[in-house]
Amino acid sequence: MCEIPVFYATTEGQTRRIAERIAQMMRTRGFDSRAIEIDTPEAEHMDWSGVHGVFLGASLHAGKHQPSAVAFAKAHARELEACPSTFFSVSLSAASAHARELKAARDIAEGFAKETSWRPHRIACVPGRLAYTQYGFFKRQLMKMIARREGASTDTSRDHEYTDWRMVEQLTREMIDAVRYDARLIPLGA
Ligand SMILES: Cc1cc2nc3c(=O)[nH]c(=O)nc-3n(C[C@H](O)[C@H](O)[C@H](O)COP(=O)(O)O)c2cc1C
Repeated sequence: MCEIPVFYATTEGQTRRIAERIAQMMRTRGFDSRAIEIDTPEAEHMDWSGVHGVFLGASLHAGKHQPSAVAFAKAHARELEACPSTFFSVSLSAASAHARELKAARDIAEGFAKETSWRPHRIACVPGRLAYTQYGFFKRQLMKMIARREGASTDTSRDHEYTDWRMVEQLTREMIDAVRYDARLIPLGA
């Protein structure tokens, strides 16, 4: 049983960190919550009957979210919509100083909802991380080029985190409010 699962797909690990932070904040506020990687037996065999609120996070690579996240949201659109739900899209564009890039991140995140037919109650674009130390040579050069264009750091000797943790906390608070509001309409456990 899990009241507020935080499903995630990740390539370099930042979306997992964000999902784990959300689940941890939920637990400190008294909810049963876990970060659950999509594409695992735990996600596949979820008992949706005990779910009161749900997060799904995925990250952007070459303009797309992980196909596993798209497939999961398509397969479970009905269950995801049955309670308050938040989609968070993790990207570098979300950290950009340019309005055009911020809009591009927003459009892609909204495109995820259209493509999967899941209408999340909340869509958030969360700034991610430049994980230079994890990239191979070519990926590091590519990301350095993109970072220069975006005004992000080109110091490849270390990783650079852009995640706005206050925003993540705010998403958690909004979910708690939505779950409590929902519970007044439909008593928990009914
Ligand atoms: C090969 C590669 C391609 C990327 N493409 C995009 C992109 O198209 N748009 C974007 O905003 N961020 C892009 N990013 C940045 C990632 O979204 C960012 O690093 C994010 O934190 C990754 O999350 P993850 O660690 O959970 O996979 C890319 C990163 C890599 C390594």
